[in-house]
Parts: sequence; structure tokens; C-alpha cells
Amino acid sequence: MSETEILNKIGQVADKLSVDVYAVGGFVRDMLMQKPGKDIDLVVVGDGPGFAKALAKQLRIRNIVLFERFQTAMLQYRGFQLEFVGARSENYLVHTRKPIVREAGLQDDLSRRDFTINAIAYGLNDHNKGQLIDPFDGRRDIERKLIRTPLSPEITFNEDPLRILRAIRFATRLQFTIAPDAMAALAKVAHRLDIISQERITDEFLRILGTDKPSLGFELMDQAGILPVILPEMCELKGIEQREQFHHKDVFNHTLKVVDNVADMSDKLELRLAALFHDIAKPATKRFVSGAGWTFHGHDEIGARMLKPIFKRMRIPNKMLSYVEKLVRLHLRPIALTSEEVTDSAVRRLLVQAGEEVDDLLILCRADITSGNTARVQQYLNNFDYVTKRMRDVEEKDRMRTFQSPVRGEEIMAVCGISAGPQVGKIKKMIEEAILDGTIPNEYDAAYAYLLKIKSEVV
Ligand code: CTP
Repeated sequence: MSETEILNKIGQVADKLSVDVYAVGGFVRDMLMQKPGKDIDLVVVGDGPGFAKALAKQLRIRNIVLFERFQTAMLQYRGFQLEFVGARSENYLVHTRKPIVREAGLQDDLSRRDFTINAIAYGLNDHNKGQLIDPFDGRRDIERKLIRTPLSPEITFNEDPLRILRAIRFATRLQFTIAPDAMAALAKVAHRLDIISQERITDEFLRILGTDKPSLGFELMDQAGILPVILPEMCELKGIEQREQFHHKDVFNHTLKVVDNVADMSDKLELRLAALFHDIAKPATKRFVSGAGWTFHGHDEIGARMLKPIFKRMRIPNKMLSYVEKLVRLHLRPIALTSEEVTDSAVRRLLVQAGEEVDDLLILCRADITSGNTARVQQYLNNFDYVTKRMRDVEEKDRMRTFQSPVRGEEIMAVCGISAGPQVGKIKKMIEEAILDGTIPNEYDAAYAYLLKIKSEVV
């Protein structure tokens, strides 16, 4: 079922019941940006749950979640998630011809939404099908790529301080700018995040990390003074220090670059977290060695140990912790394997320690190369190609060492009508050789067919 079909259905039921229903919020925003979605928020001018119940009956939907107290209802239909909310209806005025009066409840609802781009309504009834009600010029803000609040920013943010992070999430995801008055208000209301549960904050935080270019969001959180509230450890990474002729790079900017690099290569949230935290212990381990420069010895291991309390405080799902610890702990190891003298066993040790995460570890290591010197970057990348190849070679060797014919001894005896003895081993060897030579693939069916073929030669 298409969006148009479902919206038409809802419109028909609305006309039948003589209530006005509008699609609103993210669905309309995304539709105007040519990205139709499956989550549709709807405003019913009147009784939201009542309308949802009537619609459910029409469409024979059995599961409906009602929150009568909040005048909301949710239901699912053919892959769509529909969320209804009731808006104040001036019952006695509903049949007036003046649209401005009919829409009073709707306008009120829209004005209490977070951003103008989310405060556009799309008519579904016969009398206004496909019309946009856009009292705060949200459409123009989509064109101008602007995050602006419908009311004065402090009112909008104070009503629900989570909107502070939502502003940053939308700005990052859509690559929009936050209007100057809203940006100024963010800094003023940042402390109000206190009243928001850590779970909701972390959810927004992880969504920002999940965008195409997370650095934009971290820079905004930093500018708005929100980063010290949510993740003070990251603020410690800022700054450059110079002594003698040595300076180190700004770890904050480097970290953001690494996060963006990882985001270009993978959508995996845990891997982006590993990028975010890979150098978290650099401030704690920073030393200056006269004549030699700056060192950060042990920042991999100490960084890994810093994670547990941070994850606990931020209520980041526990299942991500051991993964991120592992990657932070191992993030320097592949670089150490770039020299030719490295033994197979050193490579094997890292393969075993990294386990299933070895490919992710290599992504993180590649992302960690942020030098501005292209020749040096190329040199590092070549080194990683070499390490990757060494790992593949060692893996292949180990696999071959434990390699066995897919057709086992008992079966060979049964097929050939022989009993245990050197002949079984000889046949098995022939099958294995055929696989190693590439005559047959390393699969049971092929090996079995091959056994039938060579049986008469041997027996
Ligand atoms: N909304 C709001 N204030 C909030 C949360 C939501 O005003 N704190 C409103 C916005 O109008 C928003 C709508 O409720 O568009 C739906 O919220 P949600 O589903 O969280 O956001 P979407 O805009 O649909 O964004 P997404 O695409 O990320 O789901």
C-alpha cells in the first residue's frame, strides 16, 4: 500500500465522521523533501483516540494502543505506523466556512511543536486534500535549510528541553543551520537537560552519532555548551600544547575526523562509539619527554578502562561496552604489525584477540589516519594493506592446517565396501588433493561425487 492510498483511506473515514484530520510532523517534512516515510503523525481536530478507534474498525485493525489521558492513539497498518493526537476542536464552529476558525485547534497544535519544519500540516479531507497549512513558514525553512522554532525559542525549548538535542540532531542529519536566536537560546537552556531522563538524552546522542556526518552535531553540542553536560570527558581532548619544537595535534578535532571517517565506511553504531572514545585517555596519559616530544603511553589500555563508568552513567546499552572496550584496547596493535619482521604468531595473536571484530578494528585503524600530508597518508594506507594481507595469509594457512576432506572415513568405507586401513587414508588424501588443486570445490556434494568417480580406480 502506498502513502497516497493510506492517506486517502484516512481522509475518507474522516469525511464520513465529519472530522478534520491532518498529517503533520516528520512525515510531512520528509515528504516535502522527497523522502516519504512509514511513520505518520496525524492531528485529529476533535477526539483523537475516538477517531483512531473508528478507523481501526473500518480497516479491521485489532491492535490499537490508546492513551486517552494524552488524547493519543497508535496503530499499525500494512507496514505503516500511525499515531493520532487530538487537537482542541471548537465544536460549535466546525461547520463554519471560514477556514481560519476551523483550523484554530490545529494552529494551536502546530504552534506547540518543536520546529517550523515539523509544524506543517497536510489536509486529508475532501475539502482540503493535499493542501498545506503552514502558519510558521516551515516550507520556506526547508528551502533555506533552517532549524527555527515556531514560538520564541526559549518557550519552545523550556516546554520540552529534549528539543535542545533534537535541534542538533535535525541540524546534523539534514545538514541544516540552527537559526541564531535558537542557537543563543540553546546555551541559555542547556542546564534544563537536568530534568530529562538519561535514557532519552542518550537516545538522541546516539542518533546524532548515527548520522552521515556526526562531527557537525558534536561541534554544535560544543558551541551550545551541551557537551560538558553530557560528555565532559570529550571536552578534555581539546587544545594543543607546544614545548620546545614539539606540539601534538588537537585530539578533539582529530577524534571528530576519525568518527566521520568511520561513518563513511560503516553504519555500525558501536564502531562509531569506538572511534569517539579511541583516544579518550590521551589527556590522562600525556607526557613530555625533553628532546623527543609528546607521548601518550598506555592510552589504549587506560582508555578501555575508562569506558565502563562512562557507559554506565550514560546508560549506553551494556552489549556495546565489551565491543568498544576491545576496539579501544586494540586500536594501536595493527600499526605495530606493519614491519616485515613481524612473525606469524604475532599476527595470529592479534587475530585471536580481535576475534570477530578484526575487520571493524581495521576500519577504525584506517579511519585513525588523519594526517594532512597525502604522501604520509598513502604510506600508512599501504602499510594497512600489507597488514590486512598478512592477516588473510595467516588465516588461510591456519585454515589449511586443519583442513579435512568433507567426506569422512566411515562414509568412504561404506561407499567403497572396505574396512578401516591405509586405503581409507589414501582415498581421503586423494579427495583433499583434488580440493587443494581446485579440481573440485571444497563442498560435501562435490567430494562425494568425486569419491564415486575414483572408487573403481582405487579399490
Ligand atoms: N515533537 C515535538 N517535540 C518533541 C518531539 C516531537 O514537537 N520533543 C513533534 C514534532 O512535530 C515532530 C513530531 O512530534 O515532527 C513527531 O516526533 P518524532 O517522531 O520524534 O520526530 P519526527 O519529526 O517524526 O522525526 P524522525 O524522522 O526522526 O522520526
